[in-house]
Amino acid sequence: MTVRGISDAVRVPARARLWDSVDAVRISVIGCGYLGAVHAAAMAALGHDVVGVDVDAAKVESLSRGEAPFFEPGLDELLAAGLAAGKLRFATDFAAAAAAQVHFLAVGTPQLKGSRGADMSFVYAAVDALAPCLRPGVLVVGKSTVPVGTAAALAERIGPTGALLAWNPEFLREGFAVKDTLEPDRIVYGLPGVGADQARELLDAVYAKLPECPLIATDYATAELVKVAANSFLATKISFINAMAEVAEAVGADVTQLADAIGHDPRIGRRFLNAGVGFGGGCLPKDIRAFQARADELGVGRAVEFLDQVDAINLRRRERVVELVLETLGPEYQGHRVAVLGLAFKPESDDVRDSPALDVAVRLHGLGVDVVATDPHAIDNARRLHPQLAFVATAEEALAGAEVVVLVTEWAAYRGLDPAAAAKLVAVPVVIDGRNCLDVPAWRAAGWRYLGMGR
Ligand code: UDX
Repeated sequence: MTVRGISDAVRVPARARLWDSVDAVRISVIGCGYLGAVHAAAMAALGHDVVGVDVDAAKVESLSRGEAPFFEPGLDELLAAGLAAGKLRFATDFAAAAAAQVHFLAVGTPQLKGSRGADMSFVYAAVDALAPCLRPGVLVVGKSTVPVGTAAALAERIGPTGALLAWNPEFLREGFAVKDTLEPDRIVYGLPGVGADQARELLDAVYAKLPECPLIATDYATAELVKVAANSFLATKISFINAMAEVAEAVGADVTQLADAIGHDPRIGRRFLNAGVGFGGGCLPKDIRAFQARADELGVGRAVEFLDQVDAINLRRRERVVELVLETLGPEYQGHRVAVLGLAFKPESDDVRDSPALDVAVRLHGLGVDVVATDPHAIDNARRLHPQLAFVATAEEALAGAEVVVLVTEWAAYRGLDPAAAAKLVAVPVVIDGRNCLDVPAWRAAGWRYLGMGR
């Protein structure tokens, strides 16, 4: 066991453990989306015998061929290795999970339509479908992000089967999911009041081969809260710098230099202080909303009321980009051509859930602007949601004849565009850098009018 505690109180005990003699744990991972598919492949890479279960037959078929149904660097290789070693398989039938000792719940908890709260139906459906596989000695481990109190409710639900439940939140970032899973910066165990040692031994066996990292062993509620607190903090940090961008715009200050300057204070830190079009994705936006909904239910809504502001600041940044485009085009903006570079919510991902980039494209199109959008990996996902948009495969095609260029996802290919070559393609050399990621002097020197966010 190499997972190391941050204090003696949480250090893994040296005494012999139940699973010391067991190399491979039989694992099922329920839900094979961005989280579950990576977790399943990573657990197989650690030497465990893993079955991933998902109700989506197309997803299961693709994963069984060793092809991730979404873009995640390094995942195809990990899938192929697991499948070839006979350590990994995928199925649509929960019966495939019957032999597993540990069942990871990795289903989605998206925002409910018409509410800030999370849709918990997939979590409850998964636990109910697992019921025939549960018995004494088996551990169910929640990884999905859930409203605090869910683990206790689920433990009660599975109680009669004799199986135990632990909560083990996941902190992986899309685009770095493989690395984050195999080299986590911390591990959190939310353990049951009764059966904690047994649950912990199984979790220790699962993670035994990970490199050393801090381990925080705690109760269910703390483990659930750690995840939403972490995402709320990150969202707040981004909205803080975007609020400073709004102020900087009013006074002609430069928010990037401001971020550099305050970021040198180690108490603040420079990471997650990039002002721009704001945060999106399948986690941060819905997690801060679900947290507010849950806090309201618990009667502590005021404690996280500020997250409403965090959300509002974030959404204002998209409006600001749209405003800048319209200001640049002038009152007769309809029918004028705008190139939108980026659709994914961030680079190295094809995820367009709550993507600020896609939102900007959709809003401009809705206003009658002639939008031509591109992205290295997210076009198919964007087209599925918004078939009305015009998509092209490359930045060069998007730039052709554009009167304004809007960069909204900071893919390396866009950051690395040659401003002189790009200037030759467009009709008017105006660039709105929605991620403050371009080399401003170089773009200005090539004849571009450059507009950033808060600078
Ligand atoms: C996030 C958390 O980082 C991760 O720990 C958790 O498990 C899931 O949610 P992810 O959604 O993959 O991960 O993306 P992240 O890298 O956190 O970026 C979130 C959004 O914030 C992106 O839209 C990104 O563009 C934006 N962002 C990030 C900024 O606008 N500015 C920054 O400085 C950093």
